[in-house]
Amino acid sequence: MEKLRIMSVFGTRPEAIKMAPLVKELSGREEIESICCVTAQHREMLDSVLEVFGLTPDWDLDIMTPRQTLSTITSKCLTGMDEAIDALKPDLILVHGDTSTTFAGALSAFYHKVPVGHVEAGLRTYDKYSPYPEEMNRKLVTAIADLYFCPTESNRRNLEREGITENIFVTGNTVIDALKTTVVKDYHFTTEILNDLPYDSKKIVLVTCHRRENYGQPMEDIMSALAHIARTHPDTILVYPVHLSPVVQECAKRHLEGIENVRLTAPLSAGEMHNLMARCCLVLTDSGGLQEEAPALGKPVLVLRRETERPEAVEAGTAKLAGVAYDDIVSMADQLLTDPAAYAAMARAVNPYGDGQACRRIADAILWHFGRGPRPEDFRS
Ligand code: UD1
Ligand code: UDP
Repeated sequence: MEKLRIMSVFGTRPEAIKMAPLVKELSGREEIESICCVTAQHREMLDSVLEVFGLTPDWDLDIMTPRQTLSTITSKCLTGMDEAIDALKPDLILVHGDTSTTFAGALSAFYHKVPVGHVEAGLRTYDKYSPYPEEMNRKLVTAIADLYFCPTESNRRNLEREGITENIFVTGNTVIDALKTTVVKDYHFTTEILNDLPYDSKKIVLVTCHRRENYGQPMEDIMSALAHIARTHPDTILVYPVHLSPVVQECAKRHLEGIENVRLTAPLSAGEMHNLMARCCLVLTDSGGLQEEAPALGKPVLVLRRETERPEAVEAGTAKLAGVAYDDIVSMADQLLTDPAAYAAMARAVNPYGDGQACRRIADAILWHFGRGPRPEDFRS
């Protein structure tokens, strides 16, 4: 029987971290020929992930430009994907999550009448502009997709409410699969500044912030709050690997550079990031991926957003929505840094997002879809 040609398409750092273990799983299946196409919507941050996971793309659209707009990303991806699909002739295209690459990848597959599998399907805030443009991207991909790989049961319910009744698989999130390969005991950091941190005598607070809907006043307020938290808690060190977006770089440096107990670093490789998270005390972030990883490592999270499409950790009590207002962020961080009981109540390892078997379930579901194997069992937290 001929092998199935499964083409994974991704372009940003989080998609790469979450698709890398799946590409590897697919490559290990004898019924499948796994093809990897990157848009390089992110360049350096994507290449770092490819290196960590030892992946070499079969096709690279290399689209990134500084301060790129949503329209440029989408149109460049669409044009580039035409050539890739014509040349590689996949039986199924896999896209991940909610970026511009995700949307353009799915739309391009549709134009070529190639079926689409959506990894990390069914996340919703039901606010069209938050996260922006991600909420709309994932809804549009839902309309196009043929197979839905939902991380959680609640994601499945979101799709069912929208009338999707077939081909939904609850798999867990592939980020937990990735985390199982990157976090190691006695990890030695290659970023010198991370080896030198006083993990035993200070509280390490891990910070990231990059979302487009936070650009402008919300990001100004978040960064001022972070500066205040650092200044008023000398027993902490805030470590902030700053996203390469020029908007974020400028704002973070203006507010935080020069504060004695703040360490602004370049983006970390996934290995460095995951092992730093494993050693930190608290995570302050607007990142989707960090919201999923920190609970698995038992680290409390304050989410620097007004809403979240990842309510599972909030429901489990290990994450809280801090919002984007200065006073709220400061008071919630104060509480966790000064009240041991409040901290202990949130510092529990829970696994609402996966058990590390998501990639196996997705590969099995694809084979089932093409009549080549049994349907996988669903992930239950
Ligand atoms: C994108 C995704 C967002 C995701 C985020 C993860 C969209 C619309 N947004 O947002 O959902 O949460 O990635 O990080 O798809 N840059 C570099 N080098 C890099 C990466 C980025 O220089 O390796 C700079 C470039 O100037 C680029 C800018 O960052 O133009 C913004 O990148 P872009 O992909 O447009 O948006 P993100 O905010 O990263
Ligand atoms: N990450 C990383 N290095 C960093 C910051 C984040 O490896 O300096 C990882 C993080 O652990 C997670 C993913 O990147 O796996 C999240 O990416 P990001 O926050 O950029 O995007 P989001 O998840 O919000 O879409």
